[in-house]
Amino acid sequence: MYRAKITVVGSINMDMVTQCRRFPDIGETLMGTDFQRYSGGKGANQAVAAARLGADVTMVGAVGDDGFGYELLTVLNREGVNTDYVKTLPDLPSGMANITVADGENQIIVVPGANSGLTPADVEAAESRIAEADVVLAQLEIPMDCVITAAKLAAKHGKPFVLNPAPAQRLPEELLELVTLLTPNTTELACSLGLPAGMSAEEMIRRSRCPVLMTIGSDGALYNDENGQIHHQPAFRAIPVDSTGAGDTFNGAFAVYWKDGMASAVKKACAAAALSIAKAGAQSGMPFEEELEAFLAQQAV
Ligand code: RIB
Repeated sequence: MYRAKITVVGSINMDMVTQCRRFPDIGETLMGTDFQRYSGGKGANQAVAAARLGADVTMVGAVGDDGFGYELLTVLNREGVNTDYVKTLPDLPSGMANITVADGENQIIVVPGANSGLTPADVEAAESRIAEADVVLAQLEIPMDCVITAAKLAAKHGKPFVLNPAPAQRLPEELLELVTLLTPNTTELACSLGLPAGMSAEEMIRRSRCPVLMTIGSDGALYNDENGQIHHQPAFRAIPVDSTGAGDTFNGAFAVYWKDGMASAVKKACAAAALSIAKAGAQSGMPFEEELEAFLAQQAV
């Protein structure tokens, strides 16, 4: 059985997750109901999602030389992710995300720490893993020059470069020209392309110069094909415990199934994302290959 090779260039964070009955207002102090620490970071989450679905995954990133860094590396290794290109930085703390979860939704503040110490030279050091990847995946929690370097190396070796433009920021034209597929949510697409507020999702997708696969929350996903036609994959029903990492699961799974063609890959990515929100923490609910297959088989009945 062929194992997809995925190289993820991205962030690794420790998630500090507080559960609340509702989000606090500005200036308000609320009593929380639970607190847990989980491995996270959009890059690491996408790497774990892909590895659980059977892919051969290499992570390119950075952690701090601290207890969190050690734990984060241990988790990635345990999940079967190759961490040869994750460097440990002595002078920066590991990346940290302060997450509040209420009613299955979340609010996140990321302090990048060691993620901001990743350099284009670190990405270049992983060129051989980019050269042999089926898909190169990146997000925006690392310095932009690292993302651009990854995109250039992917282009140099003729590999698809999938960019999940999160957290949202305006993308440089130089990068947009190198992206094979952009995987934003609605807000991220508007911000990535600098589009005015109030446009429909379809209109925004039409305005994009590169192909778009957009997640639209509980409505599933939209994507355009080479003829400009927009397709809709409905979401699968799920009981939301914690939506943190659902988008990352979607991206990791999509990369694994990319070779099956858009319709199939997007369907499997939506199913994996639905399964992922049934447990607390970004990575806890990410499905293994057999779970995903069983879930999809159930839907077909
Ligand atoms: O997408 C979810 C992730 O965003 C969390 O794991 C957190 O670390 C932030 O990077």
